[in-house]
Amino acid sequence: MIKNLLAPTTLQFLRSMNPEAKSEMERMEILADPGFGKHFTDHMVDICWSARGSWHRPRVQPYGPISLDPAAAVLHYGQEIFEGMKAYRHEDGSIWTFRPEKNAERMQRSARRMALPELPTEYFIDSLKEIIKADGAWVPSEPDTSLYIRPFMFAKESFLGVRPAEKVNYYVIASPAGPYFAGGGVVPISIWLSTTYSRAGKGGTGAAKTGGNYASSLVAQAEAYDNGCDQVLFLDSEENKYLEELGGMNIVLVYKDGTLVTPHSDSILEGITRDSILELAEDRGLKVERRRVTIDEWREGVASGDIVEAFACGTAAVVTPIALVKSADFEIGSADAPAGPLTLSLREELTDIQYGRREDVHGWMTRLDA
Ligand code: PLP
Ligand code: COI
Repeated sequence: MIKNLLAPTTLQFLRSMNPEAKSEMERMEILADPGFGKHFTDHMVDICWSARGSWHRPRVQPYGPISLDPAAAVLHYGQEIFEGMKAYRHEDGSIWTFRPEKNAERMQRSARRMALPELPTEYFIDSLKEIIKADGAWVPSEPDTSLYIRPFMFAKESFLGVRPAEKVNYYVIASPAGPYFAGGGVVPISIWLSTTYSRAGKGGTGAAKTGGNYASSLVAQAEAYDNGCDQVLFLDSEENKYLEELGGMNIVLVYKDGTLVTPHSDSILEGITRDSILELAEDRGLKVERRRVTIDEWREGVASGDIVEAFACGTAAVVTPIALVKSADFEIGSADAPAGPLTLSLREELTDIQYGRREDVHGWMTRLDA
């Protein structure tokens, strides 16, 4: 494990403002229809790490290209991790984020798995506050919009030997966001069951938020699009029968007695949205099961009427109902199935907390602009 023995307890960010920042008019035009992941704010955060000097040179600087040596280790061996979170504007104008310490901890777990240095939680949260200090005006206020924040870290050292890099950079960029899916998030999606490709395997990197997991999902995701589906569903790599997760979100099934069942597996990303939704369900007295669940259980459960709803969940996806699972051999559900009532009410409860419309009894929200 790479320790931060030399790290100071607080970072003093050097701020250099973007002289070519977008005008208010340009920004408002983007915020009126942000899409997802298409537009970026005026600044970015950058913190350097070296094996000799630990974390240093924290900066806020104009958003722009990163200069890399062609031998930078990340370009060859993919030593990279990232996080995904959102800043929400509340009705009084204040800016908040959801459970950032969970993202910080997950990034530390990802770092351990990918032999990268662990960024301390205080630095992680400070880096979010810095990006908001510079680009708070980019947090939209229309319903269901937010500023998607993407912290990431990669091996910058120029060295072609295969070992953990001794020079690493951490960045934060931000992108105003509307719904991830074209339908807006409450319109049910179709998912494609990949039987050819696995996302991750035993002892692999599936539980880490690392670019390689997404790179390996792309051909299966392309197959999903070719079959008219929005996302790809992966099964376990050993027996090809247990549900894992979608390309970029977790999955939850709802039984007719209100029980929520979600796959337990060491090779999926432990979603913060899923964890929170399941806690809200438990607060309502509903039963929650984290266990292995097969595709046949889903298929038979829908046929018998035991499984009545299914949804995808994640920071980008929020909570999105699943209408149909399609595979080469069979289908579960139907494309025109309406969104389930429990799915919709859990989505509403979660987003009410995130947007400050409901009391945050769990203490999940952190203010970023104060
Ligand atoms: N699974 C994968 C593969 C993801 O990319 C994501 C999104 O970050 C999730 C699950 C859900 O995680 P979270 O709810 O923390 O965003
Ligand atoms: C997120 O939800 O933050 C992700 O990283 C998933 C991706 C589909 C955007």
